[in-house]
Amino acid sequence: MKARLLILSLATLPLSLHAAPFAKGDAKAGEKLHKELCTSCHISRFGGDGSKIYTRPDRRVKNASALAQQIATCNTMLATQLFPEDEANLGAYLNATFYKFK
Ligand code: HEC
Repeated sequence: MKARLLILSLATLPLSLHAAPFAKGDAKAGEKLHKELCTSCHISRFGGDGSKIYTRPDRRVKNASALAQQIATCNTMLATQLFPEDEANLGAYLNATFYKFK
């Protein structure tokens, strides 16, 4: 019985050590921001609803930190000076919808 408990607690340990990326972000708020600020430019380059930029086979973003980095880069292009919370919200939305990094 004791051993089983130990195994159980070991198995759940990594979950508590590594929070999901953008766990603090609010995906709903991110989706709204994304619609307001991000899609029109992506559409102008990729057509459709612009989401191809995230789903194309040769997309550039390969992990959560690269996603955070790219959001910051596009934010700089926009010169809208998003707050860190905004970037976290955008990250939460894009990760939940397209990238699904763990
Ligand atoms: C002025 C145009 C423009 C705006 C505005 C813009 N982007 Fe981008 N974004 C681009 C371009 C161009 C690329 C593709 C870069 C490449 O493929 O080399 C890109 C790529 C990206 C990618 C990487 C896609 C991949 O390949 O995995 C992410 C993530 C992203 N943008 C997020 C955002 C977010 C979030 C916003 C709004 C805050 C935003 N972008 C606003 C032009 C823009």
